[in-house]
Amino acid sequence: MGKKTVKKMKKTVLLTGASKGIGRALAQKMLSKGYYVIGTSRTQSFDFNHKNFFPLKLDLSDPRSIENTHKNIFTNFDCIDILINNAGIGPDLDTENPKRDSFSQTFDVNVSGTVFFTEPLLNGKGLPLQTRG
Ligand SMILES: NC(=O)c1ccc[n+]([C@@H]2O[C@H](COP(=O)([O-])OP(=O)(O)OC[C@H]3O[C@@H](n4cnc5c(N)ncnc54)[C@H](OP(=O)(O)O)[C@@H]3O)[C@@H](O)[C@H]2O)c1
Repeated sequence: MGKKTVKKMKKTVLLTGASKGIGRALAQKMLSKGYYVIGTSRTQSFDFNHKNFFPLKLDLSDPRSIENTHKNIFTNFDCIDILINNAGIGPDLDTENPKRDSFSQTFDVNVSGTVFFTEPLLNGKGLPLQTRG
């Protein structure tokens, strides 16, 4: 019986909020494991670089920014294997004096922004996002 050949293919990860914190650490770990990483931030400024790292600008609180990022992805990338919705903010948690604006802003970014960013990627509107395999 002949040897089985395992063809290793590099996977492409779309990782939001890759500029700092958990996202930055994840980006670097995945790059070190051989993944292609498309990483986003609002400013597109990153304090690291890698030949397989592709920075994109994305502000989840801004519908126009979400739309531009989709166009950019659909134009420049064939396939996203893994989507990691990491970007987000935390509300100002002053329990005695909760601030409505802070909660609205958090909801806009973490919930609405993430939903409207993700939906076209899953809905096959131009991007061959893998749904299995
Ligand atoms: N660390 C914790 O203890 C903890 C606990 C519970 C939940 N979480 C969640 O886990 C995730 C990562 O946490 P972290 O501590 O690593 O946060 P972090 O250090 O503050 O990093 C947040 C990332 O999200 C991006 N981001 C912020 N606002 C954005 C917006 N409006 N649109 C697009 N990107 C935006 C930031 O990029 P730019 O500023 O460059 O745009 C940054 O890359 C967040 O969703 C956070 O809410 C964290």
